[in-house]
Amino acid sequence: MLVTARYTPNIALIKYWGNRNNGLRLPAADSLSMTLSEPTVDVSVEAAKYLSVRSTKSDGTEKRLSEAQIRRFQETIELMRRYLEALHIKEALPESLRISIHSHIPPGVGLASSAAVFSALARGVASLVEETQALAPEEISVLARLGSGSAARSIYGGFVTLESGEDNDIASAQAAQITDEHHWELHDIVVIPSEEAKKIGSTEGHALAQTSPHFIARIEAIRSHRQRDCIDAIQKKDFEKLQRVAEEDTTDMHHVMMTSKPPLRYLTEDTHRIVREVTSLREKEHLPVLYTMDAGPTVHLICPKDAADKIHAFAHSQKNCLIYATKIGKGATLLADGSA
Ligand code: PMV
Repeated sequence: MLVTARYTPNIALIKYWGNRNNGLRLPAADSLSMTLSEPTVDVSVEAAKYLSVRSTKSDGTEKRLSEAQIRRFQETIELMRRYLEALHIKEALPESLRISIHSHIPPGVGLASSAAVFSALARGVASLVEETQALAPEEISVLARLGSGSAARSIYGGFVTLESGEDNDIASAQAAQITDEHHWELHDIVVIPSEEAKKIGSTEGHALAQTSPHFIARIEAIRSHRQRDCIDAIQKKDFEKLQRVAEEDTTDMHHVMMTSKPPLRYLTEDTHRIVREVTSLREKEHLPVLYTMDAGPTVHLICPKDAADKIHAFAHSQKNCLIYATKIGKGATLLADGSA
């Protein structure tokens, strides 16, 4: 059986940075994101004797995967097997998988493609084991988390949390939807100053987070109020509150990154300039817009629908930047024809 799942990235408003268990990708704190409507990634999976992973770009050309990338798929499948064993359905997963990825995510645009790839893979694996036992969405989110923590959140559309849980059980961190995509139409205008691939990926970065003297304080802030404030802002559609809490958290995460050993500097002079300029534009024109940055120089400008045209114009006024416009999306779909 060949199954194909279509997924999209998500942008975190409360960032996941640092694990309490790196091997199992069990996060140190809760996180929260908005699933995006595009760009999409299609992942097909079918049973095979040996693992093979093939990846093509939107123009149809082949993307060569490094040995480390293939190893990550191998390790993820082994972890998925371990989780399915805990659910007593280990034998439902075939010996190995043939995986075909067709990504419409332009390379280096700062739209985390791994979240979309691993959530699609999880959805595909769930379909393969379905004949033995159907998995609930939160169980599929656990499968996704084993490949990339943030991938767990792309299982759902709308606004989604990844609840960290407490113990070292493989299933203790799961995603949950706060509201679907119809609740609040927020747009994400993505401003990409550089398409250069980052030198230290997030898997390595998470492992360094605890070396920062500011790590514990950030986790405490998320646990004591920040995550709750963010959920509250979304439920009440309070943009001012969302802006305050999301900007506080992106600043805090980058502070942790820059003070870890070795320091991780993902933001560039261009990032800081774009943030300064959008901040002064919002003051001048009283525009509802917030900025947030993941592990790269890309700036995500999130705004309600009625501000999107102005933010779009601002983004296009930025020299030498690639712009990508997307909005809140519905999350996963399984493609009926089974082809990627
Ligand atoms: O899922 P990972 O391991 O790629 O980590 C994601 C880390 C951030 O994008 C920086 C934050 C987040 O919560 O998405």
